[in-house]
Amino acid sequence: MMVKPEDIEVRHSAGSYRVRFCTFAEAAELIPKDSFVITDVNLLEHWGEGFKTTWTVLTLSPGEQTKTLSTASEALQWLAAEGCTRDRTLVALGGGVIGDLTGFVASAYMRGIQFIQIPTTVIAMVDSSVGGKVGVDLPQGKNLVGAFHPPEAVLTPLETLGTLAPARFREGLSEVWKLGFVMNRQFVSELERAPLAPDSEELPGIIAKCVELKKAVVEEDELDLTGRRAILNFGHTIGHALETLSGFEMLHGEAVSVGMAIEARIGERIGVTESGTAEQVLGYLRAAGLPVDLDEAFDARSIVEAIRLDKKATRDGVSLSLLSRIGECKLVSGVPESEVEAALRSR
Ligand code: GLY
Repeated sequence: MMVKPEDIEVRHSAGSYRVRFCTFAEAAELIPKDSFVITDVNLLEHWGEGFKTTWTVLTLSPGEQTKTLSTASEALQWLAAEGCTRDRTLVALGGGVIGDLTGFVASAYMRGIQFIQIPTTVIAMVDSSVGGKVGVDLPQGKNLVGAFHPPEAVLTPLETLGTLAPARFREGLSEVWKLGFVMNRQFVSELERAPLAPDSEELPGIIAKCVELKKAVVEEDELDLTGRRAILNFGHTIGHALETLSGFEMLHGEAVSVGMAIEARIGERIGVTESGTAEQVLGYLRAAGLPVDLDEAFDARSIVEAIRLDKKATRDGVSLSLLSRIGECKLVSGVPESEVEAALRSR
């Protein structure tokens, strides 16, 4: 039986919200009966049509290709057509795509309505449901349109992890490892000792530990202004470029895993990352069954061009969140594109 972790309170400039670990049935009980729910067909197939009779539900196609301005427009018009008033709650039931998109819709509808996150994937539980970042992609880049709109609550039904396809579960582990790499060497050692599967006894504790780590960062730099929150972007500059260039077909967790391997190499090349760290990062990711090699189909020059639109970039050029060593990370500005390209070519 899963041991339920304690609730975690996350503070932000306008208040706070709780991350509650609960069952799916408890989460369903906790959301107001007149809520509007956005989910995807996978969730509906798995959990049945039952909740369609309780809430007003919009069901979207799964996958990153859904996270667009056009889907957001569809969802906004759905809320209006269904007569959603400003005092109602919008619920995101699903993974990162549903959470980001629904949060964005909640941030924009009538200049902002309340929303609740019910994250059902590893990535959504350990990363995207916490911290208030919401948004959609543009064809030119991932998450280029968005807002900070904290949820009212995050209701985390851990048992949904058991319903994920093995590849979907595994890709989420890259965000778990990332938190260890950027913040906590001891957590990396814990992960090494406890290979994670949906039925691992350690899993609830590991997910809760990730939420604690993320909470510490987002409470310190809620609006991503000081460089502290940027550490959560380790692997994401390259990762987001790969997702964009793949037409958002590549899974986020897999793109971030390859991104972490490449960014660790870039860090070593420019003398920011302690020598030998990249080998360690690659070893951990490989052992977790995550990809570290850049697919031949990607062209180094196109990746360099894509990262110019990364949200950490400035008019002075590319910035990367780079490890100093395992457990420490910092934002580094003015990284020469030639070094990025050289690291990409040394595959
Ligand atoms: N996922 C990165 C952040 O929340 O800042």
